[in-house]
Amino acid sequence: MEKLSSAAELIEKSRPERPVRGLRPHAAGRAARWFLENFPGDVAYAYKANNSVFLIGALYGAGIRHFDVASLPEIEDAVTIPDAHLHFMHPVKSRHAIKRAYDMGVRSFALDSEDELQKILESTGNARDLLLWVRVAVPAINSRIPLERKFGVHGPTAAQLLMKARQAAAELGLTFHVGSQTTTPDAYVTALAEVHKLIVKAGVVIDRLDVGGGFPSRYPDSDPAPLKEFMDVILNDIELLPVRENIKLMCEPGRALVSEAESLIVRVDARRDNGLFINDGGYGMLFDAAHLGFIYPARLVSRAVDSDEELVPFELWGPTCDSIDYMKGPFLLPASVREGDYIEIGNMGAYGRAIAGHFNGYGEYDEVILLDDPILSMYETQEAPARSVRR
Ligand SMILES: Cc1ncc(COP(=O)(O)O)c(C=O)c1O
Repeated sequence: MEKLSSAAELIEKSRPERPVRGLRPHAAGRAARWFLENFPGDVAYAYKANNSVFLIGALYGAGIRHFDVASLPEIEDAVTIPDAHLHFMHPVKSRHAIKRAYDMGVRSFALDSEDELQKILESTGNARDLLLWVRVAVPAINSRIPLERKFGVHGPTAAQLLMKARQAAAELGLTFHVGSQTTTPDAYVTALAEVHKLIVKAGVVIDRLDVGGGFPSRYPDSDPAPLKEFMDVILNDIELLPVRENIKLMCEPGRALVSEAESLIVRVDARRDNGLFINDGGYGMLFDAAHLGFIYPARLVSRAVDSDEELVPFELWGPTCDSIDYMKGPFLLPASVREGDYIEIGNMGAYGRAIAGHFNGYGEYDEVILLDDPILSMYETQEAPARSVRR
């Protein structure tokens, strides 16, 4: 794949007809190194966030060997990664998926009900070599995408399920998810307090604890606490758990590992007042901008503008005929943006590619590797990325 120093170089060399995914594997590698250095346990990449081989390769190169997988197709993909440990963390799975996963070597499964426990046992022929994770429901605090309404068990039902799972599991774990893009560490404090109570109440031996994903990325309207603060709080509270010394830890970041590692480069096909009609949108990589109000950093990359040119708020319209194909933003761009300009929309590595569809015949992208820094970073004080290609 072509390597370029920046999105500006891409537009200088060619004026692409299709939207372009600008991958920054070095940013994924930097994020992975940070987690591996700062989290004293297994760092499992949440595969659903972005399955680009370039990003998976960068994560692997940095040392990631554990993967949280949510479906059989993800397992069929990820099982080809050498030495990969796959954790099937979706709490509701089909019998077929459980059996196929087990046949492919997966031993780690999440559950949040006795029915699912039964299903896992029956589908694996009552296997005795399972790592079973009981998913606990915890409150979402300052999270952009709460997940607790759908999955998780709590209270006396959780204690009972833990006891049942203990009898079946070779290893027993607890897992939770505080919600995606959680911007303050207190969500983990509350979650670990729940876990603490549950361990005491159930009175069973726990071998593993998975603090899930939810670690934040940086966006123009979201400036989270430093990741180090999250780790300090988490590790401090884990130390207070009963039988801490025998518990092996895991975390499952998706967004925090790949968000900075992909930009989307789009063309402006029309301008109407402060609305820009661009060639990708809510049915493409900008789903979260259209439907969850995510605001991404944006910059003009097709021409230089005076440094004193005012940045003004724009809204974006996607290319399909549908009026919900609309991204309110605001996206701050130079006031002079016009038809034919190209814009880089940054920090789109988490979930954008994964969700994009083909409505109205769109959904095809070109791809390049970009060697410059992400527009916004949680890791900017870490080592600088290597830049081998210059303009
Ligand atoms: C079970 C599980 N683990 C990890 C993740 C990754 O979450 P995030 O991208 O917020 O880190 C998700 C996201 O939905 C999830 O459902």
